[in-house]
Amino acid sequence: MSRKIVCLPGDGIGPEVLDGARTVLEAADERFGLGLSFESQDFGGIAIDKHGDPFPDSTRAACQGADAVLLGAVGGPKWEGGEVRPEQGLLALRKTLGTFANLRPITLFEGLEHLSPLKEDRAAGIDLLIVRELTGGIYFGKRQEGETHATDECAYSAEEVERVARIAFKAAQGRSGRLTSVDKANVLASSRLWRRVVVRMQAEEFPDVTLDHMLVDAMAMKLIEAPAWFDVILTENMFGDILSDEASVLAGSIGLAPSASLGDGVGIYEPIHGSAPDIAGQGKANPLGMILSAAMMLRHSLDAADAADAIEAAVQAHLASSARTADLGGTAGTGETAEAVAARLSE
Ligand code: NAD
Ligand code: IPM
Ligand code: MN
Repeated sequence: MSRKIVCLPGDGIGPEVLDGARTVLEAADERFGLGLSFESQDFGGIAIDKHGDPFPDSTRAACQGADAVLLGAVGGPKWEGGEVRPEQGLLALRKTLGTFANLRPITLFEGLEHLSPLKEDRAAGIDLLIVRELTGGIYFGKRQEGETHATDECAYSAEEVERVARIAFKAAQGRSGRLTSVDKANVLASSRLWRRVVVRMQAEEFPDVTLDHMLVDAMAMKLIEAPAWFDVILTENMFGDILSDEASVLAGSIGLAPSASLGDGVGIYEPIHGSAPDIAGQGKANPLGMILSAAMMLRHSLDAADAADAIEAAVQAHLASSARTADLGGTAGTGETAEAVAARLSE
């Protein structure tokens, strides 16, 4: 059996961290006999340079025919202000594959408490899952851009809210049974629809889940004040983008945070960070967010939960006892870190 993984390294540190994930996946394949095959495709800024399109047809076809897509990061100063941006390719990829639910787990690993910008007693116990809607809202609404006037529309249908909320409710059932839905229902009509749908679903389908609602501004505060209180957080596209960067740094570094983008078809697995132009090409990016995304891929798309567990355990053991990358206060390089995790898998 062969499972085809399409790799989209992208720009900046994207190729560096994706290389690291491949090193670890190859070690996992050796140990668990996963039958993985890899194929790389141009995507993002590099695809603009080579094809004039951040998401060329050849890349689209490869992704549609894959068992899973592994993505580094796209974007960078080189393409800012251009006619077409690398980030448009990312949005088109998500839309094409219909990955409406973006799972972003944030966990404070043992031994990293001192790296949180919060006091250690506040940071202790951070273990939350942000479920971010990924193919709707203001990212995909009507846009008009003029010299003196511009509009971005934020639209949601009840069905779009329902399908992502169902994933969040189910995730809550598998964790502590608590779900916090985040919106801006005191101002936005789309948020009031969001809240109505979530309330109805809790009553009709998920009475065993304890649901609460929080306005996004208060949420930004509560995440700092009491991050360990939260379990599953459900929110719309842009709020989820912002809150997940905020939450990631509370657990030490954005370089540690993975994600899975799921829908009805092929899943996309990418770290939540970007192309980090400030450290690109220096071999010092943290590959662990990418490696943990690869573990999510094994679990959600490739039916290899044992291999996923092993990678996560190897990362945890690595963080507890080995040299760390610069974002975690160490001096270890990207490749060195990936090899250390891979070596633990092969032990
Ligand atoms: P960023 O996430 O790239 O970087 C923010 C900060 O975090 C930087 O200081 C960076 O050095 C650091 N950082 C990020 N990842 C790291 C890692 N793995 N190890 C160590 N440090 C890390 O955000 P930005 O600077 O706002 O964006 C840069 C570009 O990336 C922009 O073009 C943006 O649009 C794009 N972007 C892409 C994605 C994606 O492809 N999924 C996500 C976010 C941003
Ligand atoms: C992310 C990124 C993307 C987003 C950008 C690059 C389009 O910030 O994946 O978090 O906003 O979704
Ligand atoms: Mn983001």
